[in-house]
Amino acid sequence: MIRRLEPRPPADAEELAERFGTPLYVYDGARLAAEAEAFAAAWGPGTTVAFSMKCNPLVGITARLHRAGIWAEVASGLEYRAARRAGVPGSHIVFNGPWKTDDELARALGEGATVILDSAEQVRQAQRLAASAAPGARIGLRVSPPDTEPTDRFGLRARAVPAAARVLARAGLRVSGLHVHLGAYQLGPARASGPPIHAVTVRYPVPVERFAAAAAHVAALGERIGGVEWLDLGGGWPAAAGMAPYRAAVEDALGAGHPALIVEPGRALVRDAGWLLTRVVARRGGARVVVDVGITQVPCVLWRRSPVHAARPRAGEARPTDLLGPLCLQHDVVAREVALPPLRPGDLVWIGQAGAYAMAQASPFIHARPAAVMVEAGRAAILRARETDDEAMGAQAEPIPTGVAVRA
Ligand SMILES: Cc1ncc(COP(=O)(O)O)c(C=O)c1O
Repeated sequence: MIRRLEPRPPADAEELAERFGTPLYVYDGARLAAEAEAFAAAWGPGTTVAFSMKCNPLVGITARLHRAGIWAEVASGLEYRAARRAGVPGSHIVFNGPWKTDDELARALGEGATVILDSAEQVRQAQRLAASAAPGARIGLRVSPPDTEPTDRFGLRARAVPAAARVLARAGLRVSGLHVHLGAYQLGPARASGPPIHAVTVRYPVPVERFAAAAAHVAALGERIGGVEWLDLGGGWPAAAGMAPYRAAVEDALGAGHPALIVEPGRALVRDAGWLLTRVVARRGGARVVVDVGITQVPCVLWRRSPVHAARPRAGEARPTDLLGPLCLQHDVVAREVALPPLRPGDLVWIGQAGAYAMAQASPFIHARPAAVMVEAGRAAILRARETDDEAMGAQAEPIPTGVAVRA
């Protein structure tokens, strides 16, 4: 049974900040495992749950979820290698993504991963690499969602699926599954002029009726091509506590005796199990303070409001307070008008629901990336050390002459 959502970090925030410095990502190992187990239980034993690593690619997070019985869903060779480093066998990895190198695809085919092909080009690439496939390799085709098919940039059009299956069959590769991902980010029509180029809206969780329609769509396609043993319905699911109507709608749409299911939750498993600790470094007048973390470390705050609290609230009336980041950008605001007690430089603040699409998308723009720790059973373990200058600057050096001639 999932425990009640505990909004506070899993250990004394001030102690963690003193020990590991700020900014600091903090994850709750027990909560991760509890979310994962509850999510799997909400679907039942016929469904495979694969954690979408793009949401939080820390090896320690995937390893913890793997210990709780969860597969990994990866969208690149880098994520595939991170999953393997986390101890996930190839046979428990779903390999998605619109671009895979030959080496990456051949490795996944050889290790018995569930390989999802995204385009006609990837179908031909797999055909070319068929000799590397392990016996019984699991090949799936990604299909564009029925309601966005004309403009969707992922997956094959439904009408192209039978021909793609025939191309693979000629190389001895059998399509055993179909995949569809609806996605919480939806593009609206771009404005005629001026920024932004995309009008993006986030609808999370994805509405239940979209899942039901997409499930019926891939099931019908599967019957058309034959031999489909599993359907992968992608991500965008709510956490376990809200799953009952989703499972009911999907099973209703599929009817009795449907193929096995795979689901790929990302934020449902990790969003509420992560926090970001940050210290106030300056006051800007009114109820505005500068903190030591910017929007580069919590990009998710651009899409949605996260809970923000003072770790040791001072006496005094709470006021609508802005937390400004340290990035020298006017729009670097990590929280706007949140009710907080008076804050002074040195005070510690935590941002909740920071487990998904925060550290994953963090960048070393202006400041290096923070450390990440996981707390479980009263102990803190480092998942990633604070980024050093050498890591932040990567392979850069004074220009190194290579002697390579290039044409104008
Ligand atoms: C193919 C695929 N599966 C799963 C996910 C996870 O989505 P969410 O975090 O909304 O559950 C994503 C996210 O973009 C995705 O692209």
